[in-house]
Amino acid sequence: MPEPTKTATLTFDNKSIELPMHSPSVGPDAVDIRKLYASGDIFTYDPGFTSTASCRSTITYIDGDKGELLYRGYPIEQLADKSSYLECCFLLLYGELPTADQMKEFTTRVTRHTMLHEQVHYFFRGFRRDAHPMATMVGVVGAMSAFYHDSLDINDPWQREVAAIRMIAKMPTIAAMAYKYSIGQPFVYPRNDLNYAENFLHMCFSVPAEPYRVDPVLAKAMDRIFTLHADHEQNASTSTVRLAGSSGANPFACIAAGIACLWGPAHGGANQACLEMLREIGTVDRIPEFIARAKDKDDPFRLMGFGHRVYKNFDPRAKVMKESADEVLDLLGIHDNETLKVAKELEKIALEDAYFVEKKLYPNVDFYSGIILEAMGFPTSMFTPIFALSRTVGWVSQWKEMIADTDQKIGRPRQLYVGAPKRDYVDITKR
Ligand code: ACO
Repeated sequence: MPEPTKTATLTFDNKSIELPMHSPSVGPDAVDIRKLYASGDIFTYDPGFTSTASCRSTITYIDGDKGELLYRGYPIEQLADKSSYLECCFLLLYGELPTADQMKEFTTRVTRHTMLHEQVHYFFRGFRRDAHPMATMVGVVGAMSAFYHDSLDINDPWQREVAAIRMIAKMPTIAAMAYKYSIGQPFVYPRNDLNYAENFLHMCFSVPAEPYRVDPVLAKAMDRIFTLHADHEQNASTSTVRLAGSSGANPFACIAAGIACLWGPAHGGANQACLEMLREIGTVDRIPEFIARAKDKDDPFRLMGFGHRVYKNFDPRAKVMKESADEVLDLLGIHDNETLKVAKELEKIALEDAYFVEKKLYPNVDFYSGIILEAMGFPTSMFTPIFALSRTVGWVSQWKEMIADTDQKIGRPRQLYVGAPKRDYVDITKR
């Protein structure tokens, strides 16, 4: 990191502290408060990290006001249009777009790792059939550390690399197995003659009883969904992965922690929650009732698929996803589906409603992804697992970056303690 050229001054209690400021390659400057406690006996208070950079990173950049998302500098719209998910994986992991030879070698490496240790099949059988696939994924990914002992040493760059490739390669297999298990169908082994997205569709939708042909338009839409979700800077699940990794935990444990965090409805769980909300609304005439609930301070209901911590203009992923949704629905001849009608009308009303306009609440990526995934035949419970498999490369890239960062320390936030001051224990008979 270049030497800071600017400083900020913090004045309080007749004290004045000079703090160095760092300038990023793009975006606002950051005041470096690392020495604040040591020099001023003072903390900063920032629940939810709304104004705090937790690390330095070269992977992904978001400009929330412009509605811009860059992977290693490349705009997401260009990547979604011209690149592929595996190429984006290479870009996120290694920093540059691959040459043709590098791409071939990387694809072969990922493809060769798609199978899971056969013993994992028995591990799956310990779960109830009606378990949510995310519950199964958290467990199975965490358990990978019990199966792949030769990629657990985080201090060995080669083992870190092997763990990264294993996770990117095996996550579709795990997600598809979680799905097959939940519907009582046999597991389908990966097919290495198919590309990444085709193989995932094959593992989810083929059965041993008959041949399955992957539709190229659906495979392209799947690949685009993976690409759009591949990384998103220091969001909740990525920060969870970094925090877990900061203690030196093994990579599989860290990614399992990320999956657990992603599951929440305010984060990756929003795609499932959004489609369930659209179904609950049911018909267009009920939209005003739900809009009113979303505005009511005394009602915890929120319009799922709307709003974002960083995007305050529009979510660029949502734009691309909307185009894909139209393509897929056209291909499948779905035009008058009731959920779709509700979605279109809700989007229109919310975009014009003063409450949503003033608070800058736009449809996010989850609003459209659920519509496509449902049209492709996925049950709502698979929406978040698909997000998790797509985001694995982002988590892994950020985890690798963190391990290599010399500024990295164990994550250990401080607190603003507002509980009881020191007091003496009172015997139970005297309380
Ligand atoms: N519906 C109704 N009101 C909302 C919504 C919503 N979806 N989102 C935010 N608001 C309101 C809040 O009530 C708050 O109002 P106030 O200022 O009057 O108190 C204001 O907008 C700001 O909301 P915050 O919760 O402070 O914003 P924050 O940045 O913390 O939250 C979040 C962002 C979690 C995404 C939020 O917008 C939300 O819950 N959205 C619905 C869930 C969702 O779609 N999540 C997916 C996010 S994208 C992703 O993870 C891939």
